[in-house]
Amino acid sequence: MNDLILRALRGEQVERAPVWMMRQAGRTLPEYRAVRAEAGGFKDLLMTPDRAAEVTLQPLDAYGVDAAILFSDILVVPEAMGLPYNLVEKVGPRFPETIRSSSDLARLHEIDPERDLKYVLDAVRIILRELDGRVPLIGFAGAPWTLFCYMVEGKGSKDWTLARRMLWEEPALSDALLSAITAATKAYLHAQIDAGVHLVQLFDSWAGSLSRDLYVQRILPHMQDLLEGLQDRVPVTVFAKGGSHFLGDLATLPCTTLGLDWQTDRRWARDVANNAPGGPKVLQGNLDPSVLYADPGIIRAETHRMLQELGIQRTIANLGHGLYPDIPADHGRAFVQAVKEYVPATERETTTSA
Ligand code: CP3
Repeated sequence: MNDLILRALRGEQVERAPVWMMRQAGRTLPEYRAVRAEAGGFKDLLMTPDRAAEVTLQPLDAYGVDAAILFSDILVVPEAMGLPYNLVEKVGPRFPETIRSSSDLARLHEIDPERDLKYVLDAVRIILRELDGRVPLIGFAGAPWTLFCYMVEGKGSKDWTLARRMLWEEPALSDALLSAITAATKAYLHAQIDAGVHLVQLFDSWAGSLSRDLYVQRILPHMQDLLEGLQDRVPVTVFAKGGSHFLGDLATLPCTTLGLDWQTDRRWARDVANNAPGGPKVLQGNLDPSVLYADPGIIRAETHRMLQELGIQRTIANLGHGLYPDIPADHGRAFVQAVKEYVPATERETTTSA
């Protein structure tokens, strides 16, 4: 198996940084759109394990990445808890019902992943069979705060005012909802690991809507609870988008890797990661995905600059957020290629002087 990413996650000395791209499955690839059309729609695709498996594997050949990420969505967990969603074309996710009161909360139930999310776990089992050891498989889930945002608001939002308001107006209800999400997500991630995923990533896409104090006081304890015991089984990445104002607090969590968004200063983040209380963390990131609209020469230069700033040890090369849907596949390949061919300046000097 190409276990480069697992070696980097263990902090072993590597010959180059491993690379994958958030949102590499789906979106940009024409072969994805073909399978999606055959399946009927996004949800049909993700609930049909054979097809979800097929789409998971597409980026391996299309981009040449060092890991596969399960094709699914973070919103399957709220649905498993009793809050269904739809994905409306060109509009985004919509929840017909939301959680705004304790009676709403009472309608949610604990999840049994092998019953409520069997289609995801079946997809994992098929993917692992078809991967046949080529590269590791990344499992994932939404983080408690990000799922809370969708479950309270019912759809996407610029600054999540209703969700933030609920933290202040209904602290006990908010905490109970966060606890319910945390318990479900924990069970779900353990089930993914039981099914065989090699590492997991938690997506806290809307971390940036909270102040440091609020995140630390109200969200971090749930993150701690969720992560407890997970890292003993597989490496865990926490990607809190917009959360660099509390990166030092995230560094106290029992996780292996901190995912960086593209706004985060790389050398500063390395310092934070190296001084994490439980020992050095791996960093993942963080090229601005909009760079991938530029010419391949620029993509290459920007990627090399990123690796120069991050270094290649304890680094997983990635974007600072997901690929945008209209980024040409060739440009995604240019990014991956640039990571693979990067030689650190110090090694360049040694080879030329030798
Ligand atoms: O990374 C991968 O390639 C694996 C698959 C994956 C999807 N969603 C597939 C998807 C992953 C890891 C996700 C995570 C996800 N889903 C997040 C966290 C990451 C982030 O972007 O911050 C969030 C916030 C969601 C919720 C969600 N799902 C939204 C807002 C949307 C609609 C807009 C969009 O991003 O396209 C989705 C739908 C969705 N999830 C699509 C895909 C490929 C698009 C469906 C389609 O048009 O075919």
